[in-house]
Amino acid sequence: MSTKNTCCRICGNKDLYKFLELGPQPPANAFLTPPNSSHRLYPDFFALQFKNEKYYPLDVYFCPSCGLVQLTDIVNPDTLFRDYAYYTGKSSETMKRHFKELAKKLTEEFDLCSDDLIIDIGSNDGTFLKNFKCRRIGVDPAENIAKQANLNGVKTFPCFFTADSAWKILNKVGKAKVITATNVFAHVNNLYDFMAGVRCLLEDDGVFVIEVPHFMELYKNKEFDTIYHEHLSYFLVGPLVELFSKFRLKITKVEKIPVHGGSIRIYVKDQGHAGHFGPTIVEEAKQVLYTKDTYQTFADKVRSIKEDLVTLLTKLKAQGNRIVGYGAPAKGNTLLNYCKIGPDILDYLTDTTPYKQGKYSPGMHIPVVSPDVFHKDPPDYALMLPWNYQTEILKKEREFLKNGGQFIIPIPELEVIGIW
Ligand code: TYD
Repeated sequence: MSTKNTCCRICGNKDLYKFLELGPQPPANAFLTPPNSSHRLYPDFFALQFKNEKYYPLDVYFCPSCGLVQLTDIVNPDTLFRDYAYYTGKSSETMKRHFKELAKKLTEEFDLCSDDLIIDIGSNDGTFLKNFKCRRIGVDPAENIAKQANLNGVKTFPCFFTADSAWKILNKVGKAKVITATNVFAHVNNLYDFMAGVRCLLEDDGVFVIEVPHFMELYKNKEFDTIYHEHLSYFLVGPLVELFSKFRLKITKVEKIPVHGGSIRIYVKDQGHAGHFGPTIVEEAKQVLYTKDTYQTFADKVRSIKEDLVTLLTKLKAQGNRIVGYGAPAKGNTLLNYCKIGPDILDYLTDTTPYKQGKYSPGMHIPVVSPDVFHKDPPDYALMLPWNYQTEILKKEREFLKNGGQFIIPIPELEVIGIW
């Protein structure tokens, strides 16, 4: 089930400008389970499951009034987040290192001692919170993930973060000195309700820290595959200033960070605090990110990425090469569904997440296998879908390259990497 927003989720403007259509597509993490042995009695079961797969529009809009890029077709969050495929602890060494460093930085910068409380919203399997020595509480709506976090020793409330759930958490654990929301702010449709929750749980002198992919990087690097139904907003700093001001909060610092194709870490405090973040806004304005024409150009570039990638893969396949997909990230499913790259081109997708292995990719129905399959019988080419971990993957897969294998990198530029 989905609903449709009729106005901008930050400023309420009704005149939104649609600049890109990537769908309809199924949710990018909705991997399909194959039939088990009892279903062999019902050979139509799997075909039926494919037939019942739900597709939703994936149209992207720009708000000319405040500058927020956003989706307006909202898939029911229970469908997207209650049973979740992304386990931070299984996704990449890069992210584990990133969270360890962030924990160290926040502990030092805000002088967190054992009695202080940190609350992480969208805390996943507790990979981030595990690094803190102070009191720590996670909040995550995915029941399978919250269960894993509790097993990992990180107390996690299995619920969506709203003003209502914030009050309940407040009654149980009190106010927090630091509240974090990394890669979750873009998932939220009602940002006003979310921020009311943050306001009620944050100590007067506390800090709210978010990490979001920076739309400026998405635009510059043509990272259109990071657009999927879970990501409802694509942030510039400008629109966030407007949102936080409604809660008597202000941005005190903005840091650029390399994760997820280029993100920003934003520190938010009560309006009484000093702070300086001007350069990012000036940079955003210089890229002309607040005008409609920019978005038309972006859409043209996306269409040409599709054309170039499909031409290359079709040519390699016609020459008799074996090609697979390396990784089955959500962004990979946007790319595969938009470009209509299916099992006729890619033999399988290999992924490190046990939850995804043995399943089929949403939409294109490519089987997902463990990396062992890739190592035992390497293909000629591997399409690198989590291109954001290029350095980590190239280092890890030296043997594949040494033996003549080649990686196809789709984004930011179509590139074939091998050792010649
Ligand atoms: P990420 O870009 O974090 O995911 P998303 O687009 O879903 O936000 O990519 C993580 C996925 O890529 C995860 O399913 C694990 C997979 N992966 C591999 O299979 N092998 C690897 O070497 C790396 C780094 C990731």
